[in-house]
Amino acid sequence: MKKPVSPRACVFDAYGTLFDVHSAVARLRSRLGDSADAVSALWRTKQLEYTWLRSLMGRYENFSTVTADALDFALETHHVDDRELRRLLLDAYLSLDCYPEVPSVLETLSSNDMSLGILSNGSPEMLKSAVESSAIDRWLDAVLSVDALKIYKPDPRVYQLACDQFRLKPDEIMFMSSNAWDAAGAKAFGFSVTWINRFRQRSEKLGVKVDHEIFDLTALAAIVQPQ
Ligand code: 2OP
Repeated sequence: MKKPVSPRACVFDAYGTLFDVHSAVARLRSRLGDSADAVSALWRTKQLEYTWLRSLMGRYENFSTVTADALDFALETHHVDDRELRRLLLDAYLSLDCYPEVPSVLETLSSNDMSLGILSNGSPEMLKSAVESSAIDRWLDAVLSVDALKIYKPDPRVYQLACDQFRLKPDEIMFMSSNAWDAAGAKAFGFSVTWINRFRQRSEKLGVKVDHEIFDLTALAAIVQPQ
């Protein structure tokens, strides 16, 4: 176990890290039948691909649009033609479940006077809805969206938003993401990074090494010490 560290702010990725992106399909599993898991996985894969592709193409659309486009791709692939189900899935995405340990981890960090924020691809409206529906907004000092820049992670300018918000240098911020590519992007930028490897994935071969790897946020308490 590495020595605990005392960052001056903890900044979290949203989707997949705080919020369970598969909880939307889980709520409507009976309507999707056997293809439910495959639809959910493809929806997420395409959503991320479209963020990277749109950034490279210089054709930004906000995360609501990208999420709807990715869902259309996934539903078409699995031959699901149901407008009402599409609408229900997109509605569910606005109130995704947060992972069970999230409220208590945020509460503990906040009671130790840690500055807390979200830095996400999500549009401001999506993020507002997600943090309010899971009632975690009370512990957050900032909810930052890439929409301010109209480019997606892992563009370094996105990570700079957190430095600007908290008036801190990159290595004074501990960034948490379950997305290995996002953890790598954040580390390349200069954050201290804890990879929340919820899905027991291999690390990315992107030439950077994150500082810490844990399997859910509970173990963050052993890494981040009060100042
Ligand atoms: C987020 O920015 C990457 O989905 C992830 O919230």
